[in-house]
Amino acid sequence: MTGSGPLLALEEFGLTLSGSDGRVFPVLEGISFTLGRGETMGIAGESGSGKSVLALSLMGLLPRAAIREQRGAVRFDGTDLLGLDDAGFRALRGRRLAMVFQEPMTAMNPLMTLYDQVAEGVGVHFPDLGEAEVRQRVRRALQRAGFPDPETFYDSFPHQLSGGMRQRAMLGMALATDPELIVADEPTTALDAALQVQLLQELRRTVREEGNSLIFISHDLGVIRTVADRLAILYAGFLVEWGPSAAVLEAPLHPYSRALREAMPRLVREQRLPRPIPGHLPAPDHKPAGCVFGPRCPKARDVCRQMMPSASRPAEGRLVRCHFPEGASGGGQG
Ligand SMILES: Nc1ncnc2c1ncn2[C@@H]1O[C@H](COP(=O)(O)OP(=O)(O)O)[C@@H](O)[C@H]1O
Ligand code: SF4
Ligand SMILES: [Mg+2]
Repeated sequence: MTGSGPLLALEEFGLTLSGSDGRVFPVLEGISFTLGRGETMGIAGESGSGKSVLALSLMGLLPRAAIREQRGAVRFDGTDLLGLDDAGFRALRGRRLAMVFQEPMTAMNPLMTLYDQVAEGVGVHFPDLGEAEVRQRVRRALQRAGFPDPETFYDSFPHQLSGGMRQRAMLGMALATDPELIVADEPTTALDAALQVQLLQELRRTVREEGNSLIFISHDLGVIRTVADRLAILYAGFLVEWGPSAAVLEAPLHPYSRALREAMPRLVREQRLPRPIPGHLPAPDHKPAGCVFGPRCPKARDVCRQMMPSASRPAEGRLVRCHFPEGASGGGQG
């Protein structure tokens, strides 16, 4: 059944993991966003900021034994995902939720042809379909994934496909069951920039036309900008900014969003050189007191060293977590 609200809604979602050595890591905190049907959302942030852990937790793919605590709420079409057990996730995954990983060779069976791999997923989730219907679904999914003439590749094994074709094959496998939500974790990072953008623009077009929703993770704001309607910026496990991508990139409210933008060569206008962000992302078990970005923030003041700011919503569809967001006049909030 399809509800009328957003497809996905997170409210102050937080996650603490425990390592095999018994140490506990608060990995995610204060993640709040909504995603509508047919929308594409990008998630950006430096390596280690929690993008993959967030993706895996939405898919129910984190090992149960590693989950120490989950906070807040995560709703998918009204279903409380935090309350689901493994069987509940298995019922959603593949059919209503699908994930595309960075390295296609790890997700594809090297001994199966392209047709058989895509058809297998369809067969698992739609056991009642006849052979002709399966063929139709496979063909359509591969077309949506950017194979103009899918039959030409049906008998190819993964190693016979180029890197770009393998990425398309993975997308085809995800699209074959027409899931409501697709989460793609750096799916095109191994490809050159022009091919990445082309593939992602095609993906965005097809999900928009068919009403699927897409979460697309990348550390490359330049790529995200060309494909995402909305953008979430993660820093050290915190959602520090969320909003329409054009607004977040052109008029960032959080100093970290601005710093990320300034660090991207392709986004720097005129002759300015990219400016790397000084300092390092803190490890999950060594987060600083006060604002988590404080030690690297050019705008930090005393209050920042004492208190992590709470999220504020300066406009409809925007969120920022900073005592002194850009564009705000005078004193802080928090
Ligand atoms: N199973 C796990 N147990 C404990 N910590 C983990 C686990 N998986 C990832 N982490 C930690 O969570 C943080 C976020 O990692 P990750 O989501 O992979 O970042 P990103 O995808 O943004 O590069 C990292 O500090 C990482 O070391
Ligand atoms: S709260 Fe303070 S330290 Fe943190 S990002 Fe805002 S200005 Fe910088
Ligand atoms: Mg990652």
